[in-house]
Amino acid sequence: MVAKKYLIHAFAGALLLALGSLPLTQGGGQALAASPSSEKNGEAQFNENCAVCHQADAIGEPGVAPSLTNQEFLGIASDKFLMATIRDGREDTAMAPFAHLGRQNVRDIVDYLRSHAMEQNRAVEVDAQPDAHGDPRLGEQWYNNICSTCHGVAGDGYFAGGTGTAIGLPGFLDKASDGFIRETIKVGRSSTRMLPFQGPTALANLSDQEIDDIIVYLRGLGQSQEED
Ligand code: HEC
Ligand code: HEC
Repeated sequence: MVAKKYLIHAFAGALLLALGSLPLTQGGGQALAASPSSEKNGEAQFNENCAVCHQADAIGEPGVAPSLTNQEFLGIASDKFLMATIRDGREDTAMAPFAHLGRQNVRDIVDYLRSHAMEQNRAVEVDAQPDAHGDPRLGEQWYNNICSTCHGVAGDGYFAGGTGTAIGLPGFLDKASDGFIRETIKVGRSSTRMLPFQGPTALANLSDQEIDDIIVYLRGLGQSQEED
């Protein structure tokens, strides 16, 4: 009887999975309200698979794994970005692919991470920002002067010895929009070593054009490594 009941549940689950190809997000960014049970499963999945690097409550650890509950990060990361990053991992970094967990578990982990967000998600607006245009040679100079100490000379991240992630590798660049990169550089990520680079309190007050120059340079790094 119990087994039969389970089968019925499994069947309903399969139906839901089939329906799962329907969009789970609106406009590519805004998550629908998560059910408490999916959040709970997401938390359990997170603790089992991710906390070893991303730490309890996903607060991150410099040089080990970034914070996933940082407000500026959650505020601009779309569900698509989060799900695809978790599914595919980031090649040539310690972030492994987790496709084997299955779509629903990954979905639940994203719901769990989102439950830490205190502000409205801006991913739709941020991802719709225009592409960066600029001079990669100027971007390279800025990058080498300000960013490379943390992110590595070729943007290869922790393996270069710093605390910044691998922002010059395709694993990041292929999934991040120019708007996502631009916003991160402008506002930084509070309570991490990623400071804001625009405004009076910034480490270096970069202009919009200078930030775009850096993005164009980073895009070039990602491409040349892909062609190798
Ligand atoms: C003092 C160290 C430091 C400097 C300098 C620095 N960053 Fe960062 N950056 C970080 C850290 C640390 C993170 C990830 C935050 C975390 O660990 O939670 C990060 C994250 C990022 C991200 C998001 C990457 C991702 O994986 O989502 C981008 C984009 C970025 N930085 C760009 C830059 C650029 C461009 C510069 C130079 C203008 C720069 N950073 C300078 C430390 C730094
Ligand atoms: C072995 C350590 C490790 C484990 C386990 C791990 N990660 Fe990561 N994760 C990393 C590292 C390192 C990065 C940054 C890679 C880089 O340099 O770009 C990362 C990056 C990420 C990012 C992108 C964050 C950003 O700032 O853009 C997400 C999302 C993420 N991980 C989710 C997860 C989830 C969810 C799990 C569990 C299913 C997980 N990770 C398990 C090490 C790990």
